[in-house]
Amino acid sequence: MKRVSFAEFGGPEVLRLTDAEEPHAGPGRIRVAVRAAGVNPVDWRLREGQVLGAHPIELPAGVGLDAAGVVDEVGEGVEGVGIGDRVFGEGADTYAEFAVLSAWARMPEGLTFEEAAGYPSVVETALRVIREVGVEPGQTLLVSGASGGVGSAVLQIARDRGITVIGTAGAANQGYLRSLGALATTYGEGWVERVRELGRVDAALDLAGSGVIRELVELTGDPRKVISIADLGAPDLGVRFSGVAGSVPQALAEAVDLISRGKLHIPVEKTYTLAEAAAAHTDSQAGHARGRRVIVL
Ligand SMILES: NC(=O)c1ccc[n+]([C@@H]2O[C@H](COP(=O)([O-])OP(=O)(O)OC[C@H]3O[C@@H](n4cnc5c(N)ncnc54)[C@H](OP(=O)(O)O)[C@@H]3O)[C@@H](O)[C@H]2O)c1
Repeated sequence: MKRVSFAEFGGPEVLRLTDAEEPHAGPGRIRVAVRAAGVNPVDWRLREGQVLGAHPIELPAGVGLDAAGVVDEVGEGVEGVGIGDRVFGEGADTYAEFAVLSAWARMPEGLTFEEAAGYPSVVETALRVIREVGVEPGQTLLVSGASGGVGSAVLQIARDRGITVIGTAGAANQGYLRSLGALATTYGEGWVERVRELGRVDAALDLAGSGVIRELVELTGDPRKVISIADLGAPDLGVRFSGVAGSVPQALAEAVDLISRGKLHIPVEKTYTLAEAAAAHTDSQAGHARGRRVIVL
């Protein structure tokens, strides 16, 4: 089969479309014929050699965490899913014709493969940070970097729970944030004052890692009411860094419920072929997004 891999850490140019042995579904896993793979910042962080987990990456390595596709192998002990089912979920090396998933759910009616591939890790992260920051219905949550993949999910899940959101994004994404029910303002010079004018802030999320932890603490008045997923310096200022994934099956079940009720939609910003994976990474690394980029097979 074809897969995207890299034999050395580095820039997008280290990505190659290569021939590889097909993976197989071990116990508790399924294999899918991949129809689409989500492009997440973690994909290029690992490609660069950033150490994000407990286990170092062995080279050559595949790329990709999220996928949507058609089940074509079911591992020992797996129940409730069969060959031919359309699923989305998380696994390993998903920028490939076949990939093994460790967590999955059946795709809701009406969702395309390319849309579905954008949800899994984004929704898991969004649910986790909303839970960890402890924001309640009726309160106001400030989201710095609100228009990307994680931000798009946070805004809609918060709205569904009766939480008011103030989001920051670039000028081009102000209308997008408002379309997701948030109060919106731009980041950059004077942003703290602009946020204050929009209302009181009970809790805040740093999703962009743009060096705003001090200001988020100032706006909430309490470092315990701030969480970052993108600024490793946050703990130096008494703010929690959230980096350990919660339950992916539970997140997928919640995603299915929200999508089916018409409460969650993550737009596909742009699609790429497997051969264009390097371009997908270059675009993702530029740091400006509306929803998710997706590799389509
Ligand atoms: N720790 C974890 O568990 C975890 C999980 C998932 C993701 N992450 C990390 O979280 C970050 C966000 O992920 P993502 O998938 O949502 O990324 P993404 O889709 O690429 O979105 C990036 C967002 O950052 C915004 N942004 C850029 N510059 C900004 C600035 N100076 N101030 C405020 N916002 C700014 C962009 O807004 P505009 O386009 O409007 O400029 C865009 O909305 C990434 O660094 C990723 O690695 C961490």
